[in-house]
Amino acid sequence: MMKVLNIVGARPNFMKIAPIMEEMKKYPQIESVVVHTGQHYDDEMSNIFFKDLNLPKPDIYLGVGSGTHAEQTAKIMIEFEKVIVKETPDLILVVGDVNSTLACTLVGVKLNIPIAHVEAGLRSFDRTMPEEINRLVTDSLGTYLFTTCQDANENLKREGIPEEKIFFVGNVMIDTLLRYKEKAILSNSLNELNLKEKNFVLLTLHRPGNVDNEDSLINILDALDEIQQTIKMIYPIHPRTKKRIKEFNLEDKIQNMRNLILTAPIGYIDFLNLMIHSKFVMTDSGGLQEETTFLNIPCLTIRGNTERPITTEIGTNILVGTDTKKIVKESMNILNGNKKVGKIPPLWDGRASERIVRILLEENYES
Ligand code: UD1
Repeated sequence: MMKVLNIVGARPNFMKIAPIMEEMKKYPQIESVVVHTGQHYDDEMSNIFFKDLNLPKPDIYLGVGSGTHAEQTAKIMIEFEKVIVKETPDLILVVGDVNSTLACTLVGVKLNIPIAHVEAGLRSFDRTMPEEINRLVTDSLGTYLFTTCQDANENLKREGIPEEKIFFVGNVMIDTLLRYKEKAILSNSLNELNLKEKNFVLLTLHRPGNVDNEDSLINILDALDEIQQTIKMIYPIHPRTKKRIKEFNLEDKIQNMRNLILTAPIGYIDFLNLMIHSKFVMTDSGGLQEETTFLNIPCLTIRGNTERPITTEIGTNILVGTDTKKIVKESMNILNGNKKVGKIPPLWDGRASERIVRILLEENYES
């Protein structure tokens, strides 16, 4: 038997863990336990994804909630240590780059439990991003590093990680996307929001570097103001950004943009429906850069760098930074019919979870 603790905490983790859990179910020799740290806790940031993705209810819920980085990371560590001692797992599986990923890795490795990191090796080379610190530490401590692209393999090797720890398996998020695409197309979200196909832009915006700084948030809002004069924009607003808009007294500015439609955060299926039918996506999230490349939807990334360069090199992604003029120029370019044509990266084929679980079983039997 191999007992695995699968860690989730924040919104982008759920779609990554779902196909791995499905795959693990096929093997009776795997005992798979879901641990939810509670980093995200609102229904619309967490519960809805469990329903949409048929994820089993968490076996263990740590309920840590929000806090500063140190507070949140420390709370997860304290609670998770108790879980390991009680459960005595053979393996801890973490995904992505959130604080839950880092915290559970640190605790696990000190109790000599091997760590599998899914989505290893991505680097923005920008250490002001909390996620970059989480990625660096998790990868340096992991035993099995599963990567989505060759450049991630190169990053890991450059950091001195032995090749035998690195496994290029493809992208689990694309496994989920393929599994739920048909269902998403049938969702009613377009009608509910009174939208027409390819007649709106889908926006997400929540990076601390963009929204915690008043000047950069205003620059971005100025660009949105210009763009929404030409095309409707849908913005499911993240709680962090909502807080900042209030704090910086920018509510009137937003309200005056009549074609910028704010909604609460949206679940996986309805959001995928909006993405598929959008004219283009504007975002500062990581996952969306990959999903749009896979779906061949243009994506403008409101950041100066990306840890997912394959999406700009061969995909549909363009980095536009936070300069108002640049954001507007690239948006108009797409609206004028100049769409960047992309290719799908190797092994983004819906079978990444299959490869991951097979490798974990093989390695477990060898050891
Ligand atoms: C976290 C991840 C980020 C990921 C994002 C997706 C880290 C360091 N960051 O950032 O990589 O892209 O999730 O959403 O792990 N809040 C709520 N309800 C919730 C969760 C949060 O209202 O369910 C509010 C709280 O006020 C909190 C703020 O949002 O202080 C930020 O949440 P937090 O988890 O600290 O960071 P995110 O910005 O969500």
